[in-house]
Amino acid sequence: MSAEAAAAALRAGGLVILPTETVYGLAADAANASAVARLYEAKGRPRFNPLIAHVADLDAARAVAELGSLGERLAARFWPGPLTLVAPHRAGVSALARAGLETVAVRAPAHRIAQAVLRAFGGPLVAPSANRSGRPSPTTYADAVEETGASAALALDGGPCAIGLESTVVSVLDGVARLLRPGGLSRAEIEAVTGPLADAATDAKRSPGRLALHYAPDAPVRLNARAPRPGEAFLAYGPAPAGERVFQLSEGRDLREAAARLFALLRAADRTRPTAIAVSPIPMEGLGEAINDRLRRAAGFVG
Ligand code: TXA
Ligand code: MG
Repeated sequence: MSAEAAAAALRAGGLVILPTETVYGLAADAANASAVARLYEAKGRPRFNPLIAHVADLDAARAVAELGSLGERLAARFWPGPLTLVAPHRAGVSALARAGLETVAVRAPAHRIAQAVLRAFGGPLVAPSANRSGRPSPTTYADAVEETGASAALALDGGPCAIGLESTVVSVLDGVARLLRPGGLSRAEIEAVTGPLADAATDAKRSPGRLALHYAPDAPVRLNARAPRPGEAFLAYGPAPAGERVFQLSEGRDLREAAARLFALLRAADRTRPTAIAVSPIPMEGLGEAINDRLRRAAGFVG
């Protein structure tokens, strides 16, 4: 499947499953309100939860959003890559895709297939993670097709996603950097550019999509488990005795490896139909902040 075929399907108002370096997305023409409506429908996503506009590069982002000097600096440093910026909307993204907000979320993905499709299409594409709303994001082609393949005109296979966690969402409104969603770019990497990020707790309302129960498998999730109980599946971090229902996030305790495997292993554990999925404690440094965020949501705790 070529980028040209994907661009043609998108121009016709169709949805396309697209690999990115973070997770698989379900893409639609950002300017086409009926395509965007089909996208919300396909995901079962509440319409108050706005989408991310994906662009090829900083130049294309400038047409979509007023990034300001703070946004420009972050984009120059981290794009293409796993960072999404929230800034005032300029043009090109339908009100439905923004859930009626005056702001827009924008990111330039690093994956070569996403880049090829964006360049062939020539405009912004909204692309939420390709899962049905509330489920873990797909990080493999097979998982993406299983989740939303039925509503896609076309699905592109980019292999497993290198990062495996969604992008970090940072608001740059009023020249203040606020962390709205921890993700594939760590807080420390961002703070090296911005200084300390503003407290996101006071801004929870400003990220409308942060529902408590999210990224949830079917089985209940039990956090900070040292070992599985009978009937449970186990997501281990660090050496663990082997077993049919034991899944290794990272034997050598590498947070990048654990991030890349997290969603696929949650799904694999779920398929064994366990009484619960027990998960080892994960340290809070680096990508651990985003991993713990997703795990707490999978367990049903309010973020
Ligand atoms: O890595 C990613 O970001 C993936 C890949 C496919 O690019 N996409 C993704 O999209 O995770 P989605 O729709 O699942 O998550 C978008 C997040 C939501 O938490 C949403 O509430 C937030 O971005 N968001 C979007 N527009 C916003 C806005 N104007 N203000 C605040 N938050 C916004
Ligand atoms: Mg999502």
